[in-house]
Amino acid sequence: MISIQNTVNYINEKTNNFEPEIGIILGSGLGELADEYCDYAIPYTEIPFFVKSTVQGHKGRLVFAKIREKKIVMMQGRNHFYEGHTMQEITYPVKVMKTLGIKTLILTNAAGAVNQNFKPADLMLITDHINNMGTNPLIGLNDDTLGERFPDMSQIYKKNIIKLAKKSADDLNIDIKEGIYWANSGPSYETPSEINMIRKLGGDAVGMSTVPEAIVANYCGLDVLGISCITNAASSASGAKLSHEEVIEAAKIAKTKFKSLILEIIKYI
Ligand code: HPA
Repeated sequence: MISIQNTVNYINEKTNNFEPEIGIILGSGLGELADEYCDYAIPYTEIPFFVKSTVQGHKGRLVFAKIREKKIVMMQGRNHFYEGHTMQEITYPVKVMKTLGIKTLILTNAAGAVNQNFKPADLMLITDHINNMGTNPLIGLNDDTLGERFPDMSQIYKKNIIKLAKKSADDLNIDIKEGIYWANSGPSYETPSEINMIRKLGGDAVGMSTVPEAIVANYCGLDVLGISCITNAASSASGAKLSHEEVIEAAKIAKTKFKSLILEIIKYI
């Protein structure tokens, strides 16, 4: 697509042809990694064809840095479907990062626990997902240069990367969970009955992101690793209320172990 090449040319000019090998999308409250490691930063507002993030706690810039001898591009803040952007708009950066040269995409998010063994500040490796967003980012004309019309989705979250993520967590003494991520469009949180349904249908954690990016990344041949930071028990019959502040608070508690885990994983990818 002409726009992707325009965007890539713009970025390459700004970063002296940095050529990243790993991409990371940093979710709610997890953006600090890009404050600590930053060789080049470009606000989304300056990047041709990028849309601007509207959510508090999401910064909105593309950050390039060499970390542990690896060249990384980080999205500090992502765009969500619930902000009113199209699926194509929110997944456009994935296609750009692919064209910039990344081979692996690490997707992170804040999520509610559906699995009753999970507690706030736990980290969960995503083993698979369920797309309940009611649409799909690949709808529309297919760009054959990126991927095929009917792409296989049998192993989006690659087993070998999950294995090395588990080993990294073990080495750091971090208790890591595994499970299936269920994506709703949001922005409303779930009702207790919806959470019961998600649990019955196999979801372990629930959120409003990640799945569109994972579908597009897998479609265009990227290896995907997904990590959810559990920020709250998803809505329960107990009637406890849930707020965005609570989500950001729990992400803050988890962010140190989250950061060290990401740094360890990067070494092995
Ligand atoms: N539901 C949906 N999205 C979320 C939640 C939740 O409970 N927590 C963080 N993101």
